[in-house]
Order: sequence, then structure tokens, then C-alpha cells
Amino acid sequence: MHKPHPTPQRLADICVVGAGYVGLTAAACFAALGHRVRCVENDQRRLSQMRRGETPIYEPGLDGLLREGMSTGRLTFTSEIDQAVPGAEVAFLCVGTPARPDGHPDLRQLAAAARQVATAATGDLVVAVKSTVPPGTCEALQLLSDDAASPDVRISVASNPEFLRESQAVSDFFHPDRVVVGADEEATGSCIATLYPSEWPMLRCDRRSSELIKYASNTFLALKISFANEIAGLCEHVGAEAVSVLAGVGMDQRIGPSFLAHGPGFGGSCLTKDVSGLVATADALGYDTPVARATLDVNAWARGRVVDKLATLLGSLAGKAIAVLGMAFKAGTDDVRDSPAVTIAERLLAEGAAVSTFDPVAEPEALRHLQHPDAYSAVSGADAVVIATAWPEFAQLDPARLASVMSGRVILDTVGVLDPAAAAASGLDVILPGRSAMDTFHPVMVRPLEWALDAVLV
Ligand code: UGA
Repeated sequence: MHKPHPTPQRLADICVVGAGYVGLTAAACFAALGHRVRCVENDQRRLSQMRRGETPIYEPGLDGLLREGMSTGRLTFTSEIDQAVPGAEVAFLCVGTPARPDGHPDLRQLAAAARQVATAATGDLVVAVKSTVPPGTCEALQLLSDDAASPDVRISVASNPEFLRESQAVSDFFHPDRVVVGADEEATGSCIATLYPSEWPMLRCDRRSSELIKYASNTFLALKISFANEIAGLCEHVGAEAVSVLAGVGMDQRIGPSFLAHGPGFGGSCLTKDVSGLVATADALGYDTPVARATLDVNAWARGRVVDKLATLLGSLAGKAIAVLGMAFKAGTDDVRDSPAVTIAERLLAEGAAVSTFDPVAEPEALRHLQHPDAYSAVSGADAVVIATAWPEFAQLDPARLASVMSGRVILDTVGVLDPAAAAASGLDVILPGRSAMDTFHPVMVRPLEWALDAVLV
């Protein structure tokens, strides 16, 4: 028996434009709360999949909710905005806002969706922007909507950013740390806020603040990861253990343990894009954001250092057989957008290595020819293995079997899933970033000695 879903403050007819991770999760979860949801998706292949009750993305728990919504009749799909909008009270815009090469967000899909929604509206409509956007976007969309809507229709654009994580999207929707509603008019804000259960933490504010909350939150999460990676690098130099150091840092309640795991750097469709968007927004206003810029620089370094470390361990990468395990940008998803694993595999190829890959669900289009059906087949004959994504099944790999099929001994476990002692017993050499090579021999560190003696000798 699953727990009943919470009850929203009122039930409404809503429309969700865009059935990606954010849109499809929102549509299925709003339907589970009891709303009548029409979800618009213009990709015909995805649309027919969803109409068959299949999710076009890998997201735990989502397929069950999708089928539940369809069986109750509360969740329907269409490719036609002008069929979905009339009769809806609120239209949620959940289309992509990818980064342009210069770091500015590309808002063209969003602008097109806003205009189509406004054109299709036959009565007053609240447009809630869930896509992540720079501050000022809702106001820009308001102007576009006012221009597109018929004169007797009033469109009110508001911000309602989404904070869910891929791979935990459904659980994040039902257990939010906060729901943020940014509206410049009380009635518009209330119209959106009351679609959610009253017991969920709610922050109401103006549109620009709401838009910036999302950018600033993702920037802070990215900053924590880059900080963890910087400290992990320092651990290697001073002979400390990053896992212990970061655990100790995170135990301070003012800091907190989450998003302090070091690894191959952050990836995915959001963090890099949103930090870049924040930097670009500030730049456009003549304001400098050095902390956000450094967050991106450290992340590029964290990715690069995986390959550099491998080159140091193997001498040269040219002609070496390297297996990369885990292609998704993180465990639990099939999403490979801005995946550190893909960057690592591409750089290994560029250095002349023969690369083989495996991921339990993800399959990057451009590297499909390197993909193997299972981990053992991918590592067969490998001089070294990189574990790039923390899929739980990698922790279950049998070290003896790995050792028997690999040519070399080195496993660079960037995400710390293997048990190094068990692997060592099978003759494997598991390298964990953030850990000094000086396991047994710790030479005196000259600088602290000098500084200490300075005090004695003065
Ligand atoms: C992120 C945010 O966590 C969500 O709150 C936000 O809603 C979402 O972006 C978005 O803007 O749509 P997501 O990209 O799904 O969610 O993934 P995260 O779980 O945040 O992971 C991002 C990256 O950081 C991954 O590559 C992950 O491996 C890495 N990471 C995460 C670390 O390297 N260390 C950590 O401690 C945590």
C-alpha cells in the first residue's frame, strides 16, 4: 500500500507545456495531487510513448504516477497548445532554457511557448514559469504575452521555479524544502500557491527575486562541490584523507554534509548552465561574480584532473585500453547532458587511448559504438578502469573477476564506490582521488616545521 498523496488547497484545471524531466514530473505529480492536467509535448515520438503509459525518461517512480494519472483520467497528453490551454486556470511553462556557447541562456523555446499559450488563451490565465530563467524573464514574457493575447484576455506571468533533482524528482516534488512563488500581484501568487498543499513550506516574493533564488541556489550547490574538489586536491598534497576531512567539515551544522562529495566534478543539464547564466546576468549589468566564476573554473579542473592522473599512473595514454564505467552525469539517471564521464571518455580518445564504456541505463549517442553490454565486458583487456559515476551496482563488482579480465591493475575510482581493501586482495590497485599516495611514509612537511621553528627561535 503506498501512502496517499497530500491534498492541495484547491483543485484546478492546469496545463503543463513541455514534458522533459521537469514538465513530465510536474504534470504527473500535479495529477496525483488531484488536479486535472493537460500536458503538451510537441515531439511525436515522446508523445506516443506517454500516451501508451511509458515515460520517455528514466526517473524512478514516474511511470507508476503517469499510469495512475492516465487511468484516473486526470492526466492527458496532446501536441496542440490550443487544445490544452482553453479552460485551464494556470499554464506551467517547463521547456528547456539551454546555455548558448557564450553562457547566456537561450530563451527562444520559452518565448515561443509563452506566445503560443497567450495566443491560445480564451479567458484570463496565469502563466507560471517553472523553467530556470535569469531575473527579468517573467517581465519579458509578460510583454510578449500581452502582445500575443486577444484584447479581452488578461495573462499574468509569475515565477514558480522547480528545485527537483533528476533521479529523485518524484520524491523531491512531494517533499519540497520549499515552494517558491514569485508574483508581482497578490491574486496571481495565490492562484499558484494554493495549487500546493498548505503544509508544504512556501516562500512568496516578487518575480525577479524568485527567478534569482533558483540561480543562486544552483550556484551555491555547485560552489559546495567545487569547494569539496579543491579541498580533495589539497588533501592529496598534504597527505590527508578527503573523505574524512569533508565529513568533518560537513558535520558542522552551519555547513551541512550534502553536496560535499568530491569526484569528477558536477555535470547535468542544470548546474553548469545556471552558474554560467548567473555570471552572464551579472556581467550584463556590469557586476562581477568572482566566486561563481571560480566555481566553474574549479569544475573544469576537476574533470581534467581525472585524465591527468591516469596519464601520470600509466605513463602515456596513447594506445592504452581504458574502460570508463558510468556514462550518466550521476547515478540513477539516463541523462548524459554535460556528463563528466563523457568529457573524460572524449579526452581519453583525444589522447589516443582505446576506450570502452558501460552504463546500466545511459547511452550517449556519440559514444554508442564504445558501449558494452556489461561492466566485465567493458573492462576486459583494459590497462586501466575509470569509475566515473556512482551507480550502486559498481560497488557489487567482483574484484577477483575484474582482475582476471583486465590486462592492467589500475582502477581510478573517482566516486569512491569500490572497497579498496577487497580490491587490493585481488591484486588490483584502486586509486581514490583526494587521498595521498603517501600511505605509509609521511615525510616531515618543511613549511610547517619552518613556521614552528620560527616561533621557537625568535
Ligand atoms: C540540480 C539541483 O540539485 C536541483 O535542486 C535543481 O532543481 C536541478 O539541478 C535543476 O536546476 O533542474 P540535478 O542536476 O538533477 O539537480 O543533479 P544534482 O543531484 O544536483 O547533481 C548535479 C551534479 O553534481 C552531478 O554531476 C553530481 O554527481 C554532482 N555532485 C552532487 C557532486 O559531484 N557532489 C555532490 O556532493 C553532489
